[in-house]
Amino acid sequence: MKTNSDFIPFAQPSIGPEEEAAVLEVLRSGWLTTGKVALAFEQEFAAFLGVDRALAVNSATSGLHLALEALGVGPGDVVATSPYTFASTAAVARQLGAEVAFCDIEEGSFNLDPEALGKLLERTPKVKAVVAVHVGGLPCRLDLIAPLCERHGVALVEDAAHAFPSRLPGGYAGTIGDVGVYSFYATKTITTGEGGMVVARDPRVADRVSLMRTHGIDRAVWDRYTAKTAAWSYAVVEAGYKCNLPDLLAAIGRVQLAKAERFLAEREAVAARYDEAFAGLPGLGLPPRGPGHAWHLYALSVDEGRLGIGRDEFIERLRAEGVGASVHFIPLHLMPYWAGRYGLEPGSFPRALAAFRAEISLPASQGLDPEAVEKVAAAVRRIAGAGA
Ligand SMILES: Cc1ncc(COP(=O)(O)O)c(C=O)c1O
Repeated sequence: MKTNSDFIPFAQPSIGPEEEAAVLEVLRSGWLTTGKVALAFEQEFAAFLGVDRALAVNSATSGLHLALEALGVGPGDVVATSPYTFASTAAVARQLGAEVAFCDIEEGSFNLDPEALGKLLERTPKVKAVVAVHVGGLPCRLDLIAPLCERHGVALVEDAAHAFPSRLPGGYAGTIGDVGVYSFYATKTITTGEGGMVVARDPRVADRVSLMRTHGIDRAVWDRYTAKTAAWSYAVVEAGYKCNLPDLLAAIGRVQLAKAERFLAEREAVAARYDEAFAGLPGLGLPPRGPGHAWHLYALSVDEGRLGIGRDEFIERLRAEGVGASVHFIPLHLMPYWAGRYGLEPGSFPRALAAFRAEISLPASQGLDPEAVEKVAAAVRRIAGAGA
């Protein structure tokens, strides 16, 4: 990865001449919005995952919203998820008039705790859907969560914004629950700048997502303008949204998708090098790991008690050494909206709070050159008091 300065940003997209050429081709084609390129991207994405159908959307946020809507979530319902996630995972439930019930993360990872979820499902019969977030690209314990959802007759939505491509024994993360939602936001492993994809087990749910993503109109624009007859004619059969992915962005996605396996291998190599550099350092916790890790994040944990400096100070010192870092996530129960709505305290979810206070996401993108990886590793070791 080349940058204009010596500063190593937390994340940078891997865009090459192939993506540039693909965008140029669309620009010159005369068709910019959703059309045959988006359709091809959907088909190629579905084939990659080994599913029948994938639906391209303009963001994972839209995808999560459409997913819950298609599952029938509305006023009077509850959506269960972990507070250890990005704003939109929970916000979409409120936008549909449902309430959110949070449950804590498990010990040793940033993911939803199946045991806490089981208890929540026992005491909250109004839960209609569980949103399981694969934080950092490490899949949740779907082997425990999926049967729990099934037993309680609750839909399982996988927030796979970080989890592409996460291969599990039962299929890719995102294809195991009722609906899976992927993000192609600028920092994600494969990107379209903004964008996302939805996959659904039940074709009726997929049909509903498809309908609602384009105004509740029964006919795609592409179909209208390419059909032999009555291009202008369509019917609005629902009060839908506008969440389609334009060809201009899908063109980038197709090229990125073809590189996904390589990107994953490169991310795995960066993570392995960091593991080696940080192994056994007192005061530093290595990222959680498990089957199907996509290594979207390399999430280090700082033990303030042992290091004598906290997470924030650690990040400041990294910055002084020319290394960008981020934090995933500020838990939602610390946010004024959610704390106020449900009367939550920082200690309401002690594991999420402790994980947040310690977490640092290091630069770990594909394309990070070996020199940069060594620079990050040396800076972390120095700050942790181990010398370079
Ligand atoms: C866990 C998680 N879910 C959902 C989203 C929303 O993705 P998007 O930006 O594509 O709407 C994000 C965004 O970063 C995320 O981190």
